[in-house]
Amino acid sequence: MSATAEQMLDILIAPNQALRSRARPVGPADADAVRDLLPAMFAAMYKAPGIGLAAPQVGRLLRVAIADLMPNDQPAPIAMINPEIIAVSPELATHEEGCLSLPGQYADVTRPARVRVRFQDPTGARTELDADGLLAACLQHEIDHLDGVLFVDHLTILKRNMIMRRLAKEQRAKRTG
Ligand code: NI
Repeated sequence: MSATAEQMLDILIAPNQALRSRARPVGPADADAVRDLLPAMFAAMYKAPGIGLAAPQVGRLLRVAIADLMPNDQPAPIAMINPEIIAVSPELATHEEGCLSLPGQYADVTRPARVRVRFQDPTGARTELDADGLLAACLQHEIDHLDGVLFVDHLTILKRNMIMRRLAKEQRAKRTG
């Protein structure tokens, strides 16, 4: 059975082993699965709403990530298959980040200000994208997910533990109503 856009994917909430796993590269045999997965991921991301989503967040351990910053409120979807960061700027930038897998949690994260990302687009064509500003942070955040890395891993242990405890408490409160 294949996923379709009509079938809403559930976004996994931390802690979850899939969010800490390394996703495997997409190969030719995955073409059908990825073609079905991408629209379902976009639907889940727009519904959340969020500006990025990686396949491990919906329990698929494949190197697939999407983003859309909706510049000027217009869709600008980016779908990345097997993305790699091939260059980073020496300058750093700090952006407040959140994550659909850590709902309600936000923190300032410092990363390279600009990155060049190489990936395959949904047609399989190899492409490169230079990103700065929030898009650079977003793409780095999503590619981190493919290696089981969450934005809180870029914080001090103290800050990370504080956020994870707060998330667990809020999720527990939500479950028990
Ligand atoms: Ni995230």
